[in-house]
Amino acid sequence: MSLTTHSLSFAYQTGQTVLHDLTLDFGRGQVIGLLGANGCGKSTLFMNLLGIQKPQQGKVCWQGAALGYDKRSLHMLRQQIAMVFQDPDQQIFYTDVVSDIAFSLRNLGIDEVIIQSRIDQALAMVDATSFRDKPIQYLSHGQKKRVAIAGALVMESEYLLLDEPTAGLDPRGRQHMIDIISRIVAQGKRVVISSHDIDLIYEVCDYLYVLSHGRLLAEGKETDVFQNKTMLDEAGLTQPWLVKMHTELGYPLYKTEHEFFTTQRRSLLSQKSIEREAV
Ligand SMILES: Nc1ncnc2c1ncn2[C@@H]1O[C@H](COP(=O)(O)OP(=O)(O)O)[C@@H](O)[C@H]1O
Ligand SMILES: [Mg+2]
Repeated sequence: MSLTTHSLSFAYQTGQTVLHDLTLDFGRGQVIGLLGANGCGKSTLFMNLLGIQKPQQGKVCWQGAALGYDKRSLHMLRQQIAMVFQDPDQQIFYTDVVSDIAFSLRNLGIDEVIIQSRIDQALAMVDATSFRDKPIQYLSHGQKKRVAIAGALVMESEYLLLDEPTAGLDPRGRQHMIDIISRIVAQGKRVVISSHDIDLIYEVCDYLYVLSHGRLLAEGKETDVFQNKTMLDEAGLTQPWLVKMHTELGYPLYKTEHEFFTTQRRSLLSQKSIEREAV
C-alpha cells in the first residue's frame, strides 16, 4: 500500500502555480496530517492524489506506479482511495441517506445483501443510524458530513482522504468528528487529514506535512513539528494547546485532552492527600 508524490507541481488554468515541487510519502504514518493555512493548496493536492487534477510536472504514484488518467485506471484508483470533500453537498447526490451511500456500490455491481450489511456497518461507525431514514435535506451540516464519510467507508478502500473534516462544525460536532475519526483509525485504515485545525491534527495524526503557499515547509512526527514555533508562525499556524502547556508551562507533553486531565487530576489528588497527612 503506497501513495506518494514526486516533485509534483500543479497550476490551474488561470496559470498561477499552486503546488510547488512536492515529494511526499503518505506511508510515513497511519494517520497523516496535511497542515496549512487557507489557500495553501491542501484541497488541490487531494484532487491531484485522486487524479481529478493532473500535475504539470512530477507525478503521483499508487503502489509504486504513476497514475493512469484513463477512465478505467481512475475507476480502479477510487476504489482504493476514497475522499470525503469539505462540503458534503458536493458529494451527496441522492435525497435519501441509504440510496446515496449505496450508489457507488451498486455501480460496482455488488450483491445487494452485501451492500445492505456494509451500509449498516458504515452508518453505525459514524453514529448515523438514528437518521438513516430521514431525507437528506433535513439533516444538519454535521450529519451530512457523517453521511459523506459513511459513503466513503462502504467502499472499504485502503486510504481515506478527509478534507477539513471539522470545518463548519460546532464544538460538540467537532468532538464527535474526532471520536469518529479515532474509531476509523482504530480499524487500521490509513487516513490523510487536511486541516488548519491544529488541535485536531495534533491529537489524531502521527506524521505531518506542513504546507505554505503550496510549498513543503516541514515534515515529521507531530510531536516534533509542533514544537517548531518559528516554522508554524511562517505557515500562519500556532501550537496546539497541549503543546503550549508543555513548552510554556513545563507540563509533560500529552497527546490528548483526556490524557492531560486524567493524569493531572490524579497528581493533584495525590498531592492533596500528602498535604492532608502532613497536617
Ligand atoms: N478551481 C480553481 N481554479 C483556480 N484557482 C483555484 C481553484 N481552486 C483553488 N484555487 C486556488 O488555488 C489555491 C489553493 O487552493 P486550495 O487547494 O483550495 O487551498 P486549501 O484547500 O489549502 O484552502 C488558492 O489560491 C485558490 O484560490
Ligand atoms: Mg481546502
